[in-house]
Amino acid sequence: MTDSVSDSPATSAVDAEAPQTLAERGNNRSHRPTNQAFRDFIGSGWGPRPDTLPARNEAAPWAVARREALGARFPGDRLVIPAGALVTRNNDCDYRFRPHSAFAHLAGTGADFEPDAVLVLEPLAAGNASAKASGVVATDDSGDTGKAAGVPTHEAVLYFRPRASRSSEEFYADPRYGELWVGQRPSIDEVEAATGIRCAHIDSLPDALAKDAGPDGVQLRVVAQADAAVTALVDRVRTAAGLAAGQDAQQVDDALAEATSELRLTKDPWEVDQLQRAVDATRAGFDDLIRSIPRATGHWRGERVLEGAFGAKAREEGNGLGYETIAAAGNHANTLHWINNDGAVRPGELVLVDAGVEIDSLYTADVTRTIPVDGRFTAPQRRVYQAVLDAADAAFARANTPGCRFRDVHTAAMEVIAARLEEWGMLPDGVTAADALGPDGQFHRRWMVHGTSHHLGLDVHDCAQARREMSMEAELRPGMVFTIEPGLYFRADDLLVPEELRGIGVRIEDDVVVDPDGSVRRLTQAIPRTVEEVEAWVSGLIG
Ligand code: GLY
Ligand code: MN
Ligand code: MN
Repeated sequence: MTDSVSDSPATSAVDAEAPQTLAERGNNRSHRPTNQAFRDFIGSGWGPRPDTLPARNEAAPWAVARREALGARFPGDRLVIPAGALVTRNNDCDYRFRPHSAFAHLAGTGADFEPDAVLVLEPLAAGNASAKASGVVATDDSGDTGKAAGVPTHEAVLYFRPRASRSSEEFYADPRYGELWVGQRPSIDEVEAATGIRCAHIDSLPDALAKDAGPDGVQLRVVAQADAAVTALVDRVRTAAGLAAGQDAQQVDDALAEATSELRLTKDPWEVDQLQRAVDATRAGFDDLIRSIPRATGHWRGERVLEGAFGAKAREEGNGLGYETIAAAGNHANTLHWINNDGAVRPGELVLVDAGVEIDSLYTADVTRTIPVDGRFTAPQRRVYQAVLDAADAAFARANTPGCRFRDVHTAAMEVIAARLEEWGMLPDGVTAADALGPDGQFHRRWMVHGTSHHLGLDVHDCAQARREMSMEAELRPGMVFTIEPGLYFRADDLLVPEELRGIGVRIEDDVVVDPDGSVRRLTQAIPRTVEEVEAWVSGLIG
């Protein structure tokens, strides 16, 4: 990485004799000229900046409805939703920035948005007053996007650090934010054009948060996990205003995090389209991964070859990975979150690949396919694979039954898994599949300890802060997007597993959507999943 403008001590403002704190020493590698003549010089002689404004983000109109639905749950309160800050990877190197999902959802922005930005939903006096006067809660509390009462309760304001002028020190001397270091950042006008949200400089945020705050005035709520510095600022404002802060404000803030999560339980049509795009990019990644199998089998760490092939596609086609890729050959498939991917890939084995592309709008797919390395399942592999496929199909059929609750999908998969394990003589003596499925049994879970489904969206495990009655116990509703991902995991050293099945691990993971008519459809329909389809897929790509 580049680390200095000039390393000539003659141009540096650093006094070589002065004692330095440890923090200051971090800059020792970089001697940036600070004399006025240089600053005048580097700030001059540039062409004009483009004077056209960007087009409105596709998500912007949808984000209006999302903000209205959120605001309706908290009339009169100031809602603070930070984008998050850069996260240090090591010393002075940051991870690539990825905005918090609640922010991306409510601001309607994607991967290219700014660290340190803060979306504030400012209570409107009229909405505030009428809601308080009537005592009416302006929503049915379902958390559904678009189900707000239709009377805006808040105005959105987006605070961020707009690009600095070329005559500023930031322009050339700030490796985190400077234009010469990280590229040209947007102006206030540009972000207002792209988002349709009124924007303001981040420096005005403290005063804006403090305005009218107090026990008889405005209450503040913050998505506390998104940015520690913003949470601390909100707490300082609350303390100064005589409001509960820190631990004492946890319930207040948790209710906001819960609401932002529940708001995403059903996706709008634009989001469903984004998720389909993420799945399509993931299919392309799996194709490239299969094409890399011949190189993987010849490499001492073939799992990394597979991981790399998928990862390259994820960066080419999207923002990157929605989560770390699992490329688990042979017995490694039986470690559920095998992300070391440092093993060999051998002909005759299966490789379990769990991978998803996060596209630029930050929506991710989450797909698992278990693939025979040489293109043909052995008889024992096929037996396990078919059992898992049957479980997945049963779960899908149950999801298509009217009145199905989210947790019923898991139950349907478990009924098949328990039945197969009984057939194979793997349940404890005298225990039937029906016994195993009861609350005092569950012995089949030894071989599938994870759940069958989770919501999917901006986060791979989306809506994780939703209340149980809104998620697991809730009936499926149009717009829900979730996974169906049963598996069987037979570790090589598991003496309760028939010998010919030891070392085999299979998971099949599809992403599904509940359509407006209530039927459930696989977004992953085009990704091969039956034994015959998977064999044809591999042989079609690598012969
Ligand atoms: N890839 C994580 C999961 O399937 O839930
Ligand atoms: Mn999953
Ligand atoms: Mn997965």
